Amino acid sequence: MFISGIANALDRTIRVKVAQRMNLEDERWATFVHPQATIVDSAVLGPDVIIYPHAVVSSDARVGAHSLVYYGAVIHHDSVVGEGCCLCASVAIAGHVTIGRSSYLGVGCTVRDHVRIGDNVLVGMGAAVVSDVPSGCTVAGVPARPLRVPGCNALTTRLTRKPRTP
Ligand SMILES: CC(C)(COP(=O)(O)OP(=O)(O)OC[C@H]1O[C@@H](n2cnc3c(N)ncnc32)[C@H](O)[C@@H]1OP(=O)(O)O)[C@@H](O)C(=O)NCCC(=O)NCCS
Repeated sequence: MFISGIANALDRTIRVKVAQRMNLEDERWATFVHPQATIVDSAVLGPDVIIYPHAVVSSDARVGAHSLVYYGAVIHHDSVVGEGCCLCASVAIAGHVTIGRSSYLGVGCTVRDHVRIGDNVLVGMGAAVVSDVPSGCTVAGVPARPLRVPGCNALTTRLTRKPRTP
């Protein structure tokens, strides 16, 4: 059995890259859930997922292979976290949120219900993400806006608001 405990905000694809290099069948990866975490029965965890103490994965939520869910992070109902993501301590994901592959959500950020976050996104600590975030972007602040950092062009990247039902 293997697990991988690495994560890197600047090289967010590192977990998936290492997993691909190891080229193991899914059943050879361990999935760890700390006894003080709460995983609702209908939630689904992929291989090589690590769930830290006091994290919560709620009903029908899914956490993709090779993702980390750190201390006290909460993934609410029907949300989907893609492969190789890292949710830092106290992240709060509301219901029906979708997060792509290899995205990194910094300490204490929050994501509004029904928001879609792309692949390889970096969300700064403490951000409140209220609109969709395109792949490859770095956002921060309340409400979250693109930051001028490598991989994110604040002049051309637009956050898009998804139509919502009342
Ligand atoms: C978003 C982040 C990646 C930016 O880091 P960076 O590229 O080094 O950026 P800088 O610190 O140079 O800051 C650039 C600007 O963004 C602002 N900024 C940085 N992080 C911010 C945040 N989380 N929220 C709001 N503004 C932020 C800075 O104040 C600065 O603004 P200025 O240009 O007006 O002075 C980083 O601050 C962050 O949040 N990392 C996640 C940390 C984390 O959760 N670690 C978990 C370890 S377990």
